[in-house]
Amino acid sequence: MSDPYFQKLFADRIGGANYGKGTAIYKFEKIKRAKRKALADHPERKLLDFGIGENDAMAPELVRRRMAQEINRPENRGYADNGPPAFKEAAARFMQREYGVPLDPAVEINHCIGSKTALAMLPACFINPGDVTLMTVPGYPVAGTQTTFYGGVVYKLPLTAENDFLPDLDNVPGDVLQKAKLLVLCYPNSPTGKTAPPEFYERAIAFAKKNDIVIIQDAAHGILSYDRPPNSFLAIPGAKDVGVEVHSMSKAFDMIGWRIGWVCGNERIVRAFADIKDNYDSGQFIAIQKAAAAGLDDPEIPKRTRAKYRRRLEKLVATLQRCGFQCKMPGGTYFLYTPAPRAFANGGPSSVGRGSPDPARGNRIDFENAEAASQYLITEQSICTVPWDDAGPFLRFSATYEADDERAEDALMAETEQRLTNLQPVF
Ligand SMILES: Cc1ncc(COP(=O)(O)O)c(C=O)c1O
Repeated sequence: MSDPYFQKLFADRIGGANYGKGTAIYKFEKIKRAKRKALADHPERKLLDFGIGENDAMAPELVRRRMAQEINRPENRGYADNGPPAFKEAAARFMQREYGVPLDPAVEINHCIGSKTALAMLPACFINPGDVTLMTVPGYPVAGTQTTFYGGVVYKLPLTAENDFLPDLDNVPGDVLQKAKLLVLCYPNSPTGKTAPPEFYERAIAFAKKNDIVIIQDAAHGILSYDRPPNSFLAIPGAKDVGVEVHSMSKAFDMIGWRIGWVCGNERIVRAFADIKDNYDSGQFIAIQKAAAAGLDDPEIPKRTRAKYRRRLEKLVATLQRCGFQCKMPGGTYFLYTPAPRAFANGGPSSVGRGSPDPARGNRIDFENAEAASQYLITEQSICTVPWDDAGPFLRFSATYEADDERAEDALMAETEQRLTNLQPVF
């Protein structure tokens, strides 16, 4: 197929004149394709889906019932823009109740159409060409991608077991610090499952003040905290002087597809976000905002979600440990992040991993990285995981698999254990 006349017009940020010609596939798309292939090639084998990680439950009944009413109210039909107050006020009550953080809903909170869009828009408030965003890796990349779209540069702060999955803020080079405008944090952390001790936030706030940096703390997995009571960055003295926290109703409220969250904290930054947002969207449907507000006012909802994912993660950790994985209960999120196996002693012939099987090594199959291990697991064993190779080879298992009740959860764990034990993982 010949190129359209506008091929040369594509912007550099998406590949310029080469746009659409590369063969690189986005990691999550690759997993989705492998999943479809595993289902087609092995219909007899149950797919064990610890992959991409979307809540398996529908939104709470209270929220759905409220939505059914609000959708028929004429006053909800128009553009929401950055209002109306009902959702912001409910978010303020939630922040006070769950985190002890007082906020003025009129000026310190603004809704967003999911936290992804907020993380995509916030760099527009600060980044000029050449400016630096400090970002933890592995992590949710959206703010970094947008930074580069504005001509900025991302400086990566690796999260490793050695630094307890907290970024090392003391060793950022001086020339980077001079250009740094944003520090993007994410706790409870995706994918590592680490939660942030208050002392870390204190250090981050001091670092931000000393170096004139704004903090964006991504709390999409907030409330899903197991090793400490859920904690907000904004509860730390001085936080409101240096940044904002981004919240989401996707995870703790099972509202992934509803697209609702909020940005809160420093008044001037919240206003800048609202000004940028005004240029992108006209606000989330007011019926959704009101239904979401009803959900925020029910403390039982996040408690139930937290208890469910804690239970599932505990079972998953015990199962994987019995198979030889060196994993422990994550501090938060619904993800388990664990070192990837280097090989399977009983992996059998396979075309993935490191080439073809070596007869001298019997059934052993080696992996050059987590991605190869993950591809093997999905194509050969119908076990779906997400690989991370940014800071060492790790696999992420999500506890969002579909299972109707605890019995189904246990059956799924038993099947997982059987398949993995049989492979004889080597670490
Ligand atoms: C760390 C993190 N931040 C933000 C998001 C975006 O969530 P949403 O846009 O559904 O609020 C996700 C979703 O997976 C996430 O894992």
